[in-house]
Order: sequence, then structure tokens, then C-alpha cells
Amino acid sequence: KTMQRELKKLVNQTDAQHRRAFQNEMDNFYYLFTRYLGENKGAKLDWGKVKEPSPEQIIPYDSIPQCEDPVHLDKLAVLKLNGGLGTTMGCVGPKSAIEVRNGMTFLDLSVRQIEFLNSKHNVDVPFILMNSFNTDEETKRIIQKYEAHKINIKTFNQSRYPRINKESLQPVPRSPDSDISQWYPPGHGDLFDSLYNSGLLDQLIAEGKEYLFVSNVDNLGAVVDSRILQHMVETNAEFIMEVTDKTKADIKGGTLINYDGIVRLLEVAQVPPEHIQDFKSIKKFRIFNTNNLWMNLKAIKRVIEDRELALEVIVNEKRMESGEVVIQLETAVGAAIKHFKNAHGVNVSRNRFLPVKSTSDLFLVTSDLYSLNHGELVMNPKRLFQTVPLVKLGDEFKKVANFLSRFQSIPHILELDHLTVTGDVTFGAHVQLKGTVIIVANHGARIDIPPGSILENKVLSGNLRL
Ligand code: UTP
Repeated sequence: KTMQRELKKLVNQTDAQHRRAFQNEMDNFYYLFTRYLGENKGAKLDWGKVKEPSPEQIIPYDSIPQCEDPVHLDKLAVLKLNGGLGTTMGCVGPKSAIEVRNGMTFLDLSVRQIEFLNSKHNVDVPFILMNSFNTDEETKRIIQKYEAHKINIKTFNQSRYPRINKESLQPVPRSPDSDISQWYPPGHGDLFDSLYNSGLLDQLIAEGKEYLFVSNVDNLGAVVDSRILQHMVETNAEFIMEVTDKTKADIKGGTLINYDGIVRLLEVAQVPPEHIQDFKSIKKFRIFNTNNLWMNLKAIKRVIEDRELALEVIVNEKRMESGEVVIQLETAVGAAIKHFKNAHGVNVSRNRFLPVKSTSDLFLVTSDLYSLNHGELVMNPKRLFQTVPLVKLGDEFKKVANFLSRFQSIPHILELDHLTVTGDVTFGAHVQLKGTVIIVANHGARIDIPPGSILENKVLSGNLRL
């Protein structure tokens, strides 16, 4: 009740022009908040009902027929989730503005992919960006350069919700104009409400679009696949989630489960502590969500208008600079799978999941392991096994700027299996790394790898200026 009163106060302070939209946003937030209170009271998952998905619930990609003629492309729109910042890699601004390869950002690469798709098939697939109040301005500045291009780029903003004081459960902002640190973008599950509220959902449907392909903007493997699109149409699936086989390193991603016969996404946050090991094991839950999702636009509209949408609440606790402990309530887009008809998973190969979460990932995608083909990264056919080396770069490499300053050029890694680098290490130009290479500069020491060095199955440690 107090939450409702406080939200009303915020709404009343909004100027007439923006009041309706803000009221809408606060209503959606309040609904999320009540679900949070409900889940806290025990409306939790019953672990006894969590079953492995049945074979029809996750089908192998290879069992899908080839697509000879991608006739459905003209009914497709592509959306990138672009609400996140690049803070983990030490960048201010949208993550999508980080330069990934040949001076091109994530955004530039996605634009290239869509331009190529459109010209190859003579279609006009729109490219949509879901921004947040954190990323909107900078994103719009970056995409200005595409105004003269033959590509239809649309943007909309996701919601801005108030952070909540953990103790009092009251909203932190006192006014709609309170500092941005008191608000947050509520996760990519917000896609549904914000796509609807922005009017873009209706606009797309009016333009004859029927399908939406959604992916994380930092997933360079998420290119349009006409085979999955055709499969979606033929199976009348309103929602398809691309999943891929888990390895021991993939303990974070959500997985699909069979819950009372319905496919559901299970995120680590929903798992009772005594079953966490089970969740992480690759035996019971063999696959994880790539967040490449295919959805039917009219079905989205139906689910929203029938008020069916109830995505599991993810609670994210933060300490503000002032020391105040706050919670932010978020949702994940994949959790919506349970609401759609004929929804299922398609198990795709790992190359459709190429996220850049850290500079270690950046190291891989900028190396000679890949080449660019119309904005798409293609693994070098000269690599003997099409697996990606395990790369761990230490804290000195964590920020993009530091990472770049430590390599005169990115080493050749076609034959690399495993690389660990810690401490103050620099690499000269055209270094070759093969097999397992471990380089450890102890505290206060420094290692410079000279230009042209070839390191094969080597461990270097101490203080070396080779
Ligand atoms: P996440 O922040 O969920 O990333 O963003 P993640 O895969 O769990 O891993 P970390 O946090 O990078 O380690 C996934 C995608 O969703 C977008 C981001 O921009 C990214 O493309 N996103 C995230 C939004 O659009 N809105 C949000 O509120 C959160």
C-alpha cells in the first residue's frame, strides 16, 4: 500500500504531457513488485516438478529441413537488446559502442549483417534496437551515420523503474526527475511491455511483419537463420529459444526444463541452494539459453493484452554510493517461453553463441581465429578442431583501454588451446601462441614478450624482459 501511495506521488509530479506514459510504466512496475512480494511469501518453484525437457521440447538443429527459398524473410524484424552498458570492460556508454573488429562496433557489425541479408534476398528486414535511458543518446548518435544507408533502423526505449530501498521497501526516487542513479532498466524481460507501450509492436504488425528475432547485442553469432524461421512457421511455434550444449565453463546461463508438461526457463536465481550443484551439472541440464529467440508478434500482443505475462522476478541487490542498500527487480525475456503455444527449444551449434562479456572474449574475436564475412564472424577453416581456446587474461587486461595497450598486435592463435596471463605482461607484434601457454608476472615484476616470438606449450613466470 505504501508503495502504491509513493508511486502515485511520483506520477502526480509528472507534467501532463508525459503523465500517461509514466503512469503506465509505474503500473507495470507495481505489478512486478507485487509478484516479488508474492514469490517471497512462497510462490516459489516446486523442485520436485522440475524435469528434463522431453525430445519434442528441444529438437536438434540438424533435424530441421534445409531452407531452399527463404520466403518468410519479408515478414521478419530483427531486434537487438541494447539496454546494457560496457562497465564490466571498463567502458562508459553502451556496450554495443565497443569496437570489436576492424574499427567496427557491435552495432556496425549488426548493421552490416542486416544490410547483407536485405540485399542478398531483396527484402527490407527492419533492424530494431531496444535502448535504455542509459544507452539511448549515445546509440542514436552512433547510428546517425546510417541515415543515408538503405536500412530501416528503429529504436525504442525500455522502461525506467525506481530502485527500492531494501529495508523500507519504498521507492528511492522522490521525484520523476530524481538522479538517474535512483532508477534502473529492469532487465531484457521488459521487452514485451516496452515494445507494446512504444507503439512499435502495433506498427510492425501493421507493416505486415509477423516474426521477431531477438538477441543480445554482444552475441556476434546471432545472425538471421532462415532455416529456423521456416521451421517456426511450419511448426506454428509462437516462441523458439535457441539453446546450445553446456560445457563445464557455462554455469551461469538459464536452462530449459519440463514443468508440468510446459517448457520453462530455469535461471540460477530460482534454484533452491541445495540443488545448485544439480543445476550446474552438465549431466542433468545439458543445454543453456543463448538468448537468441524467435517470437510471433501477434502472439506477443495477445499475451500482453490478455494480461497473461508473469515473468519470474530476478532480485538484484546493490549498494549505492551513499551506502544505501537497494534492490532492483528484473525479468528475463526467455522466461516468457511458458506463455506461448507450441514453444520449444532448438539445439544449435556453439557458433551461434559468441558473446563478448570480457576482454578475454574480445581477444578471441579480434584474433586470426575468425574472419569477417559481411559483419558475420566466421571461424578460420585452418583451425584443426572448430573449438575455441580457453583464454584467461588477468585484471591488468580487464579494461578495453588497458587490453589494447598491452598488445602491439593480437597474437596468432590458430593452434592455441589454452592461454592464461596474469600480472604486468605486454606482447610485441606478431607473436604466435600454440598449445598451452601460461604467463605469470609476479607482483612488482613485468614480462615483455618480444615481437615475433613463438611460444608453444610454455610456462613463463617471474620477471622477464626477453
Ligand atoms: P545481460 O546483462 O543480461 O548479460 O545482458 P548477461 O548475458 O547476463 O551477462 P553479463 O551481465 O554481460 O555478464 C544481455 C543483453 O541484454 C541487454 C544487454 O544490452 C545485452 O545485450 N539488456 C540487459 C537490456 O537490453 N536491458 C536490460 O535491462 C538488461
